[in-house]
Amino acid sequence: MDRIVIEGGRPLHGEIRISGAKNAALPLIAATLLAPGWHTLHNVPNLRDTRTIMALLQSMGVQWQWEPDGPLRINSEHLVGNEASYDLVKTMRASILVLGPLVARLGCARVSLPGGCAIGARPIDFHLRGLEKLGCTIDLQDGYVAARIDGRLQGNTVTFDIPSVTGTENILMAAALAEGDTVIKNAAREPEIGNLIDMLILMGCAIEGCGTDTLVVHGMRELRPAEIAIIPDRIETGTYLMAVGAAGGEVVLRNCNPEHLPSLLEKLQAVGLEIECGADFIRVARSAPLQSADITTMPFPGFPTDLQAQFMALMSISTGVAVIHENIFENRFMHVAELRRLGAEIRVDGHTAIVTGVDRLHGAQVMATDLRASASLVVAGLAAEGSTIISRIYHLERGYADLVAKLAGVGAAIRKEKEPS
Ligand code: EPU
Repeated sequence: MDRIVIEGGRPLHGEIRISGAKNAALPLIAATLLAPGWHTLHNVPNLRDTRTIMALLQSMGVQWQWEPDGPLRINSEHLVGNEASYDLVKTMRASILVLGPLVARLGCARVSLPGGCAIGARPIDFHLRGLEKLGCTIDLQDGYVAARIDGRLQGNTVTFDIPSVTGTENILMAAALAEGDTVIKNAAREPEIGNLIDMLILMGCAIEGCGTDTLVVHGMRELRPAEIAIIPDRIETGTYLMAVGAAGGEVVLRNCNPEHLPSLLEKLQAVGLEIECGADFIRVARSAPLQSADITTMPFPGFPTDLQAQFMALMSISTGVAVIHENIFENRFMHVAELRRLGAEIRVDGHTAIVTGVDRLHGAQVMATDLRASASLVVAGLAAEGSTIISRIYHLERGYADLVAKLAGVGAAIRKEKEPS
């Protein structure tokens, strides 16, 4: 197993190129199941999760080509399977994204139930209720969801209790091949959903309401292949912004979209970072001590839960007290115990963490527990005095392309090495 070693306390200088968004690539790859023929996806990040979903599609007979640094080309013409097995779903919950497109195209699909995960129970009841509204029969057997429909899915109104990102994506994809119109109410509004809507429109489906919480999908009998680029990863962008905030220095992030990070950018300015935005870049610099600010995680455009851990790491070296409410997932404070090992002063009370800034963190051995918790340890390690050793970094490799090379490229003393046995 690999681990990351960081010698902290060095300011960062230079440029980092942001990769395509994991959470946009996964639904867009799943959407290729809706239409036979060669789809072309540009800017797909080379990550463990994108390779996992490609392995899943390949197990169903999907053909694909992916040259290094080139587009990902996918053809689902000759589907021979309609099942996502437990082995793959247990490593990546987002495998549930194949359920909607498979049942819409083939009339039946079997996907393993994801079960709980490190950050919470994460049920899929909204996905299943939505598909039932479109006429699917859903059976839960032997740990699998079996969905089937005689004939075509039928458009209907689907209302989410609370906005669900992958739930909205699953229903959007299913509705694209349904007969008639589907109205999705209380839909999630994350930018990744906009990317999927753009792809479905290119595939021939008319969709209204992009960027709002009410989407109207005019279903089509058939769709055609599409060519589209994956949007920049706003969570990777936010993570590097906070890495610079923690380590100090001045860095320009290229190929990103500042409009996808409204609440984070406001908070970073509030804590004293200098932020300058262009259409596709953000320059960040720290020239003064960090102030504290409170956050509450919310669906887009609120503060993203996927950046809460990194913000907590940043606040652990602020000059004040920050109150952090986690509103989306019930168990997303796994990083607290690890940040405390680096000297952070954090008290947790239910879904709230109270962070009292300290003058400096000190390097220590820590363990990555989930993807974004791992990123918070990198942010903290860049600020800490001495060596921070992060083990179980396979979590990081699910969602950050070339993290070590990108940070080393702006002057961080960071390396990946084999864990001693
Ligand atoms: N929820 C339900 N029932 C459902 C679906 C969701 O109760 O059927 C609840 C969840 O438990 C949670 C809330 O609704 O409390 C919102 O969850 P959502 O469905 O939006 O989460 P998701 O679609 O499973 C995506 C991202 C996550 C990100 C969340 C929230 C992908 C592949 N995953 O998950 O990303 O944290 O939205 O923004 O898009 C990550 O990248 O590290 C990650 C966890």
